[in-house]
Amino acid sequence: MFGMGILAIRRDENRAAESITVGSTLLSSDDLNLGKVVYADNCASCHGENLEGQEDWQQNNDDGSFKAPPHDEDGHTWHHNDEYLLNRIRYGTRELDPNMQSLSNMPGYDEILSDEEIEAVLGYIKSTWSPSIQEIQAQR
Ligand code: HEC
Repeated sequence: MFGMGILAIRRDENRAAESITVGSTLLSSDDLNLGKVVYADNCASCHGENLEGQEDWQQNNDDGSFKAPPHDEDGHTWHHNDEYLLNRIRYGTRELDPNMQSLSNMPGYDEILSDEEIEAVLGYIKSTWSPSIQEIQAQR
């Protein structure tokens, strides 16, 4: 059954959207469109409208805290697997080492966004990566 579902989607005209999975969920182009809206509304203010991150993101703020990194290929989002990334979006810094909590203002979205929206926004981010980066990230 699972294999047949993938075949059906492969025939879809929207080839860009066809192969984006988050965890074991295959996202539709509607999901990716939802993710784009979720990103613009919730993430772009820190991570940049074009996923470019905050200016000079590799330098910490004056108080030592981290700037928001890019989610495009220049950042390190793609160095992590889906499960890690979903948890970062769900919990922000809440579930991280307490030392880290004062260094990041990354909010947790588990009470703001639905599971579907959280998967969709990660899918949208992944859909902007080149096929080779997508392949490398899938091995993480
Ligand atoms: C108020 C600013 C702010 C907003 C809004 C925000 N983030 Fe972040 N985010 C950060 C900062 C700062 C970091 C880097 C420090 C850290 O990892 O906590 C970060 C880190 C991350 C990471 C970890 C990246 C990595 O390589 O480890 C992910 C994934 C992420 N954000 C996704 C999102 C998504 C998706 C949204 C919207 C639903 C969002 N963020 C909204 C500030 C923000």
